[in-house]
Amino acid sequence: MAANQAAYLHKSGSPLEVSDAPMPKAGPNEIIVKNAAIAINPLDTHMASAGVFVQVWPAILGCDVAGVVHEVGSEVAQEGRFKVGDRVIGHTINLTTGKPQDAAYALYSAVPANKAAILPGAIPFTEGAVIPFVLEAAVCALCVTKPGIALPGVPTPAVGLPYPSLADPAAPLDKTLIVYGGASSAGSMATQLASAAGITVVSVAGAHNAAFSKTCGATAVLDRADPNLADKLVAAVNEAGNEFVGIFDAVCSPETYAHDLAVLARLGGGHLACVHPPPSEGIPENVQAGMIFAVNDAATPVWRDWVTPALRSGRLRPFPPPLVVGKGLEYIQTALEKCVAGVSAAKLVVEL
Ligand SMILES: NC(=O)c1ccc[n+]([C@@H]2O[C@H](COP(=O)([O-])OP(=O)(O)OC[C@H]3O[C@@H](n4cnc5c(N)ncnc54)[C@H](OP(=O)(O)O)[C@@H]3O)[C@@H](O)[C@H]2O)c1
Repeated sequence: MAANQAAYLHKSGSPLEVSDAPMPKAGPNEIIVKNAAIAINPLDTHMASAGVFVQVWPAILGCDVAGVVHEVGSEVAQEGRFKVGDRVIGHTINLTTGKPQDAAYALYSAVPANKAAILPGAIPFTEGAVIPFVLEAAVCALCVTKPGIALPGVPTPAVGLPYPSLADPAAPLDKTLIVYGGASSAGSMATQLASAAGITVVSVAGAHNAAFSKTCGATAVLDRADPNLADKLVAAVNEAGNEFVGIFDAVCSPETYAHDLAVLARLGGGHLACVHPPPSEGIPENVQAGMIFAVNDAATPVWRDWVTPALRSGRLRPFPPPLVVGKGLEYIQTALEKCVAGVSAAKLVVEL
């Protein structure tokens, strides 16, 4: 009989504690994954330190799992998309459900079947675990067509770009997007998805990560420390000669917002899709600003039809590469601390 354990957060700001946990049970449209690797996201550190979004205490955190299917729900069994023993990656969504079993920091987690995909055998679990949450974040930044609500008073962006295709190279579209934070986890994934949809991506990254951002699909990468960054972004977009869509800001600091608004003003406005609430003042009428909320059914077609074949063909790469912190639930606390200290073009992963 399988037994579960989890890394529990008993109160905000306290270290996680590993203890026995109830074995999750699959709902009709869920799979239970025996986790082999989980990844850490900055969101988890905010939840751990301040308790934001925590609905049930003690809490289990985490959104990214890679592992083996342990149980399938009744509808999933009927559909036949997953079976026990399949290697999978999945996005756990306790962020919205609040249920501890819907979280990643455990030996077993419940994952909605429409937020999971088969992980090809050639890709290690530690690499697969870097994908799920930021895949959904990238879809939310690029492909949502109608604005929703991210937080009270803060709309989600509706940039309305097409989904990524499996064609390699993708048929070019007459559209250019700026991705600010091209080497971040969210920014590099958005760069991969946008370029797989045929969109020209101009990114901003540290100079040491320019080659990485190009590997993700950026056609031009500008140095985040360039004193003339706004001028150079405008020039790069003009040089591409396409319709300017807007900016996905995967960093969202006062510095990046100042650049965003300067560039948007000079390029005639456009979308400003942010990972945090956009500036509350100074947004002109020709700028449509919003904050993504990375749990969205808009990602379902990507999960169901694109992720596995794209991983097989190399159209989707498990980027940024994993930085494995250790093996065992006990290492998640260390990984959270490393995440707070910051990473560069890397995703912190714990093997289980
Ligand atoms: N709202 C949502 O649904 C949602 C979803 C996903 C993520 N997020 C948020 O998005 C943010 C990014 O998450 P993540 O996982 O992508 O983070 P991450 O990978 O840990 O971000 C680190 C990367 O950001 C880069 N960076 C930092 N400041 C930069 C700047 N001024 N210009 C260019 N690059 C810069 C760093 O570049 P260097 O290599 O040069 O140091 C580093 O590579 C976090 O705040 C997270 O909470 C929100």
